[in-house]
Amino acid sequence: MAFNDMRAYLDLIKESGQLKEIDEPLSCEYGKNDLQALMRYLAETDGPGLILNNLVGYNTPEIPVIYNPFGTRERTAMALGETDPLQAKLKHSAILADRSQWHEPVLIDAAKAPCKEEVIEEADISIDKQLPHLWIGQEGSSYVCGAVVVTKDPETGTRNVGWYRLTQLWECRHPTDGSYTERQQKQQLSIFAFWNPPMNHIGLHLAKAKAMGKPLEVAVAKLCDPAVHVAACTGTPFGIDEYAFAGGLRGSPVELVKCDTVDLEVPATAEYVIEGVFQPDADDVTIGWHSNSIGYYDKLQVFPVFDIKRITHRKNPMWYATIEMMPPFDHNYLALMPVEGEILSDLQRKIPEVNDVVVTPNMTYVVQLKVDGANKPHPEFGKFVLHAVWGAAGRWGRTAKIVVVVGPDINPYDLQAVEFAIGSRVQPYEDSIMNQSAQAMVLDPSAVKGPQGFPMTGSQLGIDATIKIPERFSDYAPVSQADPDAVAAIGERLKSVLG
Ligand SMILES: Cc1cc2nc3c(=O)[nH]c(=O)nc-3n(C[C@H](O)[C@H](O)[C@H](O)COP(=O)(O)O)c2cc1C
Repeated sequence: MAFNDMRAYLDLIKESGQLKEIDEPLSCEYGKNDLQALMRYLAETDGPGLILNNLVGYNTPEIPVIYNPFGTRERTAMALGETDPLQAKLKHSAILADRSQWHEPVLIDAAKAPCKEEVIEEADISIDKQLPHLWIGQEGSSYVCGAVVVTKDPETGTRNVGWYRLTQLWECRHPTDGSYTERQQKQQLSIFAFWNPPMNHIGLHLAKAKAMGKPLEVAVAKLCDPAVHVAACTGTPFGIDEYAFAGGLRGSPVELVKCDTVDLEVPATAEYVIEGVFQPDADDVTIGWHSNSIGYYDKLQVFPVFDIKRITHRKNPMWYATIEMMPPFDHNYLALMPVEGEILSDLQRKIPEVNDVVVTPNMTYVVQLKVDGANKPHPEFGKFVLHAVWGAAGRWGRTAKIVVVVGPDINPYDLQAVEFAIGSRVQPYEDSIMNQSAQAMVLDPSAVKGPQGFPMTGSQLGIDATIKIPERFSDYAPVSQADPDAVAAIGERLKSVLG
């Protein structure tokens, strides 16, 4: 199933009763907004996606704000045309592994591209009036999130499409009592591109361009077909075009349109397109507080800025806002599903005994095997799988801080079940691995920061929670647990009393 655009996905979740309009006034002002509390409430209640129609302190009241559209594993699966999270993940990982299923994107005429319905030329750009600004939690700045970011390798010309957050500097609070120039506030954007050292693909492009003394063109496409977003936040190998992978996910080519001021292509049905250029000699900016996906405020972060050259958007555009905070939060599952799919795809290619990979909102990696005990291919097989996660393609496996390997009877989505396996199948000294020379997850506040201002190295814990046959035992006590069908049946029989 292919969505034409984000609007089609929103129609689908609305049909299933998972999109509601909110006309109650809600504040999005700096320091006293309602939006972080709302996000927490929605996360605690598996709440629906929302359209916020009445924001107080909002600079563009005519533009509705979509909030929490992806907030459950089920709705994240719906972004790929599925309802079951495991099916969505299996689809993602199978297509990722098989490039014969991918579709190269096609270019369409600019006159047919909805994203070009309205045009704001460079001379008229003043994003304080043209882009929605919302403050969430105690963040110092308002964000452009839900956008895919396109750049080309300055050496090879190959395209990268990644999902990175951007910071608006208009009325942004400076974390060290500095200030932002009027130009930075109205005609520039800053982006979470870790380029020094490069830790994502746009960072690699930027680092190359800076070393060559060349400008780097950039295009930001906000709110596209969700398959494009899923592809953009998948860690495909460097040099691979995520648009072609998105074509595989949607089962047909993504329709692109050429940008006007830069030599880049964006999905034709995006709500907004922002075209720009990073200048090689431009100074990075410091922003903060920034609420991160690990659940802490970074007091400051240092990021590059680019000059905006043109903004185009659809008629009656929509905006999307979100916050990263103590998980779970709206796009948490959308970010995790590609990580799961990416590692699952890599592991299954080498280790057919791997059944599932689940990454919890707090980023514990659980690998479920199809076999356990005497059926494992060899003794210490669980530890072999731990090493394979850390050696998986892509940076997520490499930075997985806590990894647990379980057998097929343990539900990897159920942390209580995972704890049962750890509690009853693990001897901590014998069955765990401490890797002392790991790459840290870049936002982990428990890892010591390097000279660049963020952590580069840390350590990792792997727990082999499989049954230790044949390593240690020839026999293991049977699990005392009721059959799930019998549990459902007794619930049904006693429904009138137990409800
Ligand atoms: C909503 C959302 C925001 C994200 N923001 C960032 C970000 O600001 N910087 C980053 O490096 N990764 C971010 N990620 C994760 C990247 O999208 C993911 O790692 C992706 O593989 C990056 O593409 P790349 O491998 O081509 O660099 C975000 C993911 C999601 C879902």
